[in-house]
Amino acid sequence: MNPRKILVTSALPYANGDIHLGHIMEVVQTDIWVRFQKLQGHDCVYVCADDAHGTSIMLSAEERGISPQELIDDVKEQHEHDFAGFLIDFDNFYTTHSKENREFSESIYLALEKNDHISKRTIKQLFDPEKKLFLADRYVVGACPKCHAENQYGDNCEVCGSTYSPSELINPQSVISGATPIEKESEHFFFRVPMFSDMLKKWTRSGTLQNSVSNKVNEWLDDELQEWDISRDKPYFGFEIPNTQGKYFYVWLDAPIGYMASFKNFCDKTDYCFDDYWNENSTNEVHHFIGKDIINFHTLFWPAMLSSANYRTPSAVHAHGFLTVNGTKMSKSRGTFINASTYLKHLDAEYLRYYLASKLSSGVEDLDLNLEDFVQKVNSDLVGKLANIASRCAGFIEKNFAGKLSENLDTPEIIVEIQSKQQDIAELYEKLDYSKAVRLIMASADLANKFINEKQPWVIAKKNPNSEELQAICSTGINAFRLLVIYIKPVLPALAVKAESFLKIDPLNWKDLSYILTNHEISKFNAMVQRIEPDKVNMIVDETKHGSESKPTVKEEAKEPAGTFEPEISVDDFFKIDLRIAKIISASEIEDADKLLKLQLDLGKDEKGNQIHRTVFSGIKSAYKPEEMIGMLTVVVANLRPRKMKFGISEGMILAAGPGGKDIWLIEPHSGASPGMRVT
Ligand code: MSP
Ligand code: ZN
Repeated sequence: MNPRKILVTSALPYANGDIHLGHIMEVVQTDIWVRFQKLQGHDCVYVCADDAHGTSIMLSAEERGISPQELIDDVKEQHEHDFAGFLIDFDNFYTTHSKENREFSESIYLALEKNDHISKRTIKQLFDPEKKLFLADRYVVGACPKCHAENQYGDNCEVCGSTYSPSELINPQSVISGATPIEKESEHFFFRVPMFSDMLKKWTRSGTLQNSVSNKVNEWLDDELQEWDISRDKPYFGFEIPNTQGKYFYVWLDAPIGYMASFKNFCDKTDYCFDDYWNENSTNEVHHFIGKDIINFHTLFWPAMLSSANYRTPSAVHAHGFLTVNGTKMSKSRGTFINASTYLKHLDAEYLRYYLASKLSSGVEDLDLNLEDFVQKVNSDLVGKLANIASRCAGFIEKNFAGKLSENLDTPEIIVEIQSKQQDIAELYEKLDYSKAVRLIMASADLANKFINEKQPWVIAKKNPNSEELQAICSTGINAFRLLVIYIKPVLPALAVKAESFLKIDPLNWKDLSYILTNHEISKFNAMVQRIEPDKVNMIVDETKHGSESKPTVKEEAKEPAGTFEPEISVDDFFKIDLRIAKIISASEIEDADKLLKLQLDLGKDEKGNQIHRTVFSGIKSAYKPEEMIGMLTVVVANLRPRKMKFGISEGMILAAGPGGKDIWLIEPHSGASPGMRVT
């Protein structure tokens, strides 16, 4: 077999947030694959870096009163520390704020420009007049133009799911200063992605992507592609665009180029040759591992950029789903937004590596870390099954046979059977179907344990403590254990090192599956895995809830503005709206809500004569004091589906008009109206 030459990357974590278990899932998935390739004897290099550019990094640094450089240096150290704690075996971990990355970004950009793949035009954007900077969608909040839910970001509404442009928000506010943004023009540079439509259709269907991902991407390709805005105005932390002033590369332009830059930095320290991997004609492999949220950057913009600049395109992009904890999105208040460092304070990295491997598949489905299941599975598989095989046999070998394994095995068929799984297990690792690989490995562990149960060495030891039979049985058990360690080594590298020292052997490789250990002295057995105490997990959750860990990262997103007009509705649609008179019977402020008041409404009586009450959250705090609203009549949309908002369920919407701030007027019916009356 000729060794393959493979370059592997994980997505570059933003340099302004802590590494959390979601990131860990990604690097563990990648690391297992890399270790598997190395174990097979392939030449595999794994590089990564921090993604150091963008507005949010600039602002974080400002908030902390340090320079961006200081911030990204600090964060990089912490990130490297966390990744090392999880045994992630990077060959190089670099940063996108590097001289290599600046050079590649400039030269690639200049190539795009020369090839007429860059266009320039003036666009209007929201601008913070106080901070003097253009506001990305995520830096504007306001009420959703469709459902009026408060506190929604400038790109989409988390309540009703509609997408819009930030200028459509009602009462928009800059997240940074609180100022009301103004619209301002500026010239932007665009990468002409639509020109790559044919190239991308071919590339995405050539086995580079998982089927489901390829289908999704081809839906995008069948719709019209948009030109991609790659410039940002100053102030911005990043690289200035050549031959411009005050224009910077958008962070997502230089981020994937950071893969190349990290590899170049690695090449300069070793014998690896950059061009061998990135030349247009390179036959070496390049594999990117990413989360499903950043597929468009890696399957559209990135291969298009590479192709314009005459570099090779990636061999494969492997996308994974998101990590959830106890069935839901990780959440700080539930104590499940767990940072890597918090986990490592209490538990061993390999527990999580094993659990993730036992659930990872090759698809893009989310993976749930159920904390109870986690404890149970690790204890039962690693302690109860895998380590148990060695601990049940080692004592007899050590005490009764001076640590020496026998010349012949007891039931060699067991060993042959375990060896026979190697092809299947290798294919499953290769395809990223780790959960199936782990299942096969654990089935082999069951086989070995069953063998020991049947042979009952402890019974023989009482009758014939020095018999060849006892030595052969225990030696068979130890050999089964050794094979299982080879299989699981990509997942549990530290356990493998302990096992190698217990067995007094050189580091195990995949090819070592083909022989067995006989007539060989091993050392004293020390427990290799401890049980997880469920208390430790509780401590992690508590610390996450109350700890002072930083907030999740603000994500930089590239989105073209959505259309500005609502679709027309028919008069029938309009008549579906049930407008009723409501009397405000109580009104109160809500802790932590800047704009909302909580209102209790009286909507009159139903057919049976029962009073109808509704709770509604309304964004009118800037214009009304709660006490002055009590007793007022207003108009409410009575048949709106209840909506879950941050502070509770809202069971309707009251109608108001006005530009916002102090000027919001409730639609008040004339006197003579009473609660429950239909408004026509
Ligand atoms: N900086 C960009 C990536 C640039 S790559 C040229 C970015 N950074 S990130 O820190 O937000 O995410 C880094 C990786 O972690 C992404 O692949 C993302 O999908 C992954 N994950 C972030 N949260 C995750 C989970 N909860 N679960 C699994 N992976 C997750 O995006
Ligand atoms: Zn909405």
